[in-house]
Amino acid sequence: MTLFETSAPFQIGFQTVRKLSADQFKSIRDMLYEHSGIFFTENKQYLLESRLNRRLNELKQDSMAEYLEYIKHPVNRKVELSFLYNHVTINETYFFRYANQLNAFANGIIPNLLKEKKATGNSRLRIWSAASSSGEELYSIAIYLQETLGIGLKQWFLDLVGTDISQKMLERAREAIYTTNSFRSMDAEHTRWVDKYFVALNGSQYLNHAIKNMVKFNYLNLNDSIAIRRFQGTDVIFCRNVLIYFDQATKIRVIKNFYDVLNPGGYLLLGEAESLHEISSSFKVEHHPGAFVYKKE
Ligand SMILES: C[S@@+](CC[C@H](N)C(=O)[O-])C[C@H]1O[C@@H](n2cnc3c(N)ncnc32)[C@H](O)[C@@H]1O
Repeated sequence: MTLFETSAPFQIGFQTVRKLSADQFKSIRDMLYEHSGIFFTENKQYLLESRLNRRLNELKQDSMAEYLEYIKHPVNRKVELSFLYNHVTINETYFFRYANQLNAFANGIIPNLLKEKKATGNSRLRIWSAASSSGEELYSIAIYLQETLGIGLKQWFLDLVGTDISQKMLERAREAIYTTNSFRSMDAEHTRWVDKYFVALNGSQYLNHAIKNMVKFNYLNLNDSIAIRRFQGTDVIFCRNVLIYFDQATKIRVIKNFYDVLNPGGYLLLGEAESLHEISSSFKVEHHPGAFVYKKE
């Protein structure tokens, strides 16, 4: 079978469903891996196919073979890989996710960091949400900071940055308009904060300008080691629920890059089900009620 042969498309209702041959799957998988560090194992073929079918419909293309020719063409390759990547990544996120860790951040990590900074006359605090998706994570961080430090925040030069590989998610993050799906896990305090910091309009929640203006969002591919160097001098990195999509070599490289850009005494916070086991032993584990975090000593 050649690269451009494919299994026959079939019809579901009015939709044509095109299948990927094994070689086509490998070819797209390798391009995506090279671009992003995300490695699609064979059991993800179905997911990739279903997202590709949507993309083919948008491009009005008939077959996977046509799409492969299109994406491999040097004129289209870079832009199309980014488009495709927007379609295949999982962007799931919501406000106040992994609240125990956010409490540890606001009530343990931040007071420690600020104490050390005051002692050395350093008034800059740099926090990076490294796979920020549609912004819920970074805005939650901003709200926690606002709630814990209040007026005291004014003494600090705050640098709160969210980055993601998906331009679509970055646009949503900058808009800061959310539906109920983004508020799926909240306690009584979070509900109060939503009333305080959002305005409800036509079934959506609009984040207020004070919180919106505390942060900024930029494109960054975590697979790009040089781009990560821009974050030299960071105090806290949130990198939650994205490492799981990378293969081992990429995980090791990304974490090493994080270690290098963190300030001594800086922190790395991963997702609830994630750890640095078999990835890095450079960090010290610090335990907080209901959460653990990684510290660069
Ligand atoms: C599941 S979301 C996690 C969002 C948030 N950190 C959280 O835990 O709620 C994963 C995000 O990682 C982003 N992502 C995937 N690969 C990436 C890469 N190579 N560089 C930067 N972001 C990436 C996706 O676009 C997506 O928005």
